[in-house]
Amino acid sequence: MAHVSELIASDIDQYLKLHEHKSLLRFITCGSVDDGKSTLIGRLLYESKMLFDDQLAAVEADSKKFGTQGGEIDFALLVDGLAAEREQGITIDVAYRFFSTEKRKFIVADTPGHEQYTRNMVTGASNADVAILMVDARKGILTQSRRHSYIVSLLGIRHIVVAINKMDLVGYSETTFREIVADYMAFAGRIGISDVTFIPMSAFKGDNIVAPSEHMPWYQGDTLMQFLETVEIDEADHEKAAFRLPVQWVNRPNLDFRGFAGTIASGKIKPGDRIRVQPSGRESTVARIVSMDGDLPEAVAGQSITLTLSDEIDISRGDVISTAEGPAEIADQFECTITWMHEAPLLPGRNYLLKIGTRTVTASVTEIKYQVNVNTLEHTAAKTLELNAIGVCNISLDRPIAFDPYAQNRDTGGFILIDRISNNTIGAGLLHFALRRANNIHMQHVDVDKAARSASKGQKSCVLWFTGLSGAGKSSIANLVEKKLHARGHHTYLLDGDNVRHGLNKDLGFTDAHRVENIRRVAEVSKLMVDAGLIVITAFISPFRSERGMARNLVEDNEFIEIYVDTPLEVAEQRDVKGLYKKARSGELNNFTGIDSPYEAPVQPELRIDTTTLSVEESADAVIEELSKRGILLG
Ligand code: ADX
Repeated sequence: MAHVSELIASDIDQYLKLHEHKSLLRFITCGSVDDGKSTLIGRLLYESKMLFDDQLAAVEADSKKFGTQGGEIDFALLVDGLAAEREQGITIDVAYRFFSTEKRKFIVADTPGHEQYTRNMVTGASNADVAILMVDARKGILTQSRRHSYIVSLLGIRHIVVAINKMDLVGYSETTFREIVADYMAFAGRIGISDVTFIPMSAFKGDNIVAPSEHMPWYQGDTLMQFLETVEIDEADHEKAAFRLPVQWVNRPNLDFRGFAGTIASGKIKPGDRIRVQPSGRESTVARIVSMDGDLPEAVAGQSITLTLSDEIDISRGDVISTAEGPAEIADQFECTITWMHEAPLLPGRNYLLKIGTRTVTASVTEIKYQVNVNTLEHTAAKTLELNAIGVCNISLDRPIAFDPYAQNRDTGGFILIDRISNNTIGAGLLHFALRRANNIHMQHVDVDKAARSASKGQKSCVLWFTGLSGAGKSSIANLVEKKLHARGHHTYLLDGDNVRHGLNKDLGFTDAHRVENIRRVAEVSKLMVDAGLIVITAFISPFRSERGMARNLVEDNEFIEIYVDTPLEVAEQRDVKGLYKKARSGELNNFTGIDSPYEAPVQPELRIDTTTLSVEESADAVIEELSKRGILLG
């Protein structure tokens, strides 16, 4: 994705230069293609003469061939065609389209395709001044309209246009229009949206887009274009905020030059200003502001620049440069609002990547405080967040970051969550405030350390992480491995699923969320025991790659030995030592691994044991041999 966003950024830069003297309005359109979104954007481009002749000719031909509009220009075809062109070979979340009129230039963030999710909307909305909410006059306000409005208000977009489209299909009825207005206002008031403008229109027929509609004399307000051209935006707001430059890359072409490049998120800067690098806290002074057009006397929000400093200090990609007198806050635990955008629910305790500005860290939700019902605005309890859910959560990061509360700064207070395996954006969030406990708990230094403890036991401490289906043979092999190690005088501890679930984890069942928490606790306990110098043996189904990965990341590289006890489902089921498969098949037992709950086999385990060819004894020997090979058994 990196190159795509750079491409977009450079397009935007080029475009902005062309129309430098005009003010810029950024807006997003919310709604699905069925609401007439593409038609609307197509018409705005057409009416503002932003289409090339060949594009126009092609769309006229296409409209005759494929169009649903009896040979008239089908603008939806046009915009979807542009989107397809642009998407070739790349996945793109949001397409930015540019157009301008005499009065203003515009950037519209368009979310291509039949996207039913909120993901693209949130991405496109991050710095929009106006949101156009598309409503089909025949359908009125839908759950989706409420969700979009709620997100728009969360994101701090101040102006909303409710575009009541397809008025031609309801006979340009004023009554219909009034009903929708009343319905929406009742909701808007409750989520704190105050600046709403309602425009009845037909994007397809062109009513009230640029020219006032002859069909709706009862409407005296602005056309959409008039509104977009005149709505007041406080461009200075962005510049007035404290200076923040998320460092995108460190530019070091030779030994004499070291510059820190990025796009200014907010505020302004000039040579001589005192700056602080965050989170490290080091300070220096701006020497030069280098840009494509030479050195600048001053730079403001939105500009892409390279700063050089008067001192040699350590700065890396992802750091934030702030002014020394108005720095960002620093913390690693927060309360935040999360909008979840993935089919697989958000599970507390699971590790996700969190990207804020140019920094990416590992994060997990420690608590879901409540979820918001976007229709009724009620707060309800939730154990997980499902697709499209919005929840207020506590979140914990693996490192401190520089941030501002979202309410103060949209750029340094907003983040996205990314799946560690697929790299997809799966959530978006807004930081509310740092949790105070984050600042009041410090790591305590201890003198006797892991190396000392394990050396005195004649071993290198580590975790032997057994994973596999229920009845695969994990416990039997693990038990024998421990016995053999013990006989050789090693110091071990066996954590076994069934046993731990009787004590430490007796509050947990077998839902995905509980399995994640089960493994999280076991991984933390294993880490402590590794620190104590022990050879830790764990025997848990541990069905998810994500949590096994987390357990691995808690200890050092060579301390985690994943042992996949590979027994095919048929074989485990046939053995059925505890009679559980039978119960699961008959429906007496739910969420049973391999039956109605998934098992994700390891991709690259340190050791795979095929129990259809090896006995328990042979399997245990294979493990011991692997440990010797790895130099874990010193004595
Ligand atoms: S894990 O998925 O969270 O890692 P764990 O290893 O702790 O599972 O517990 C698995 C053991 O619990 C199984 O060996 C089995 O004896 C028992 N069990 C009871 N119900 C289930 C179930 N629904 N799915 C899997 N195992 C179950």
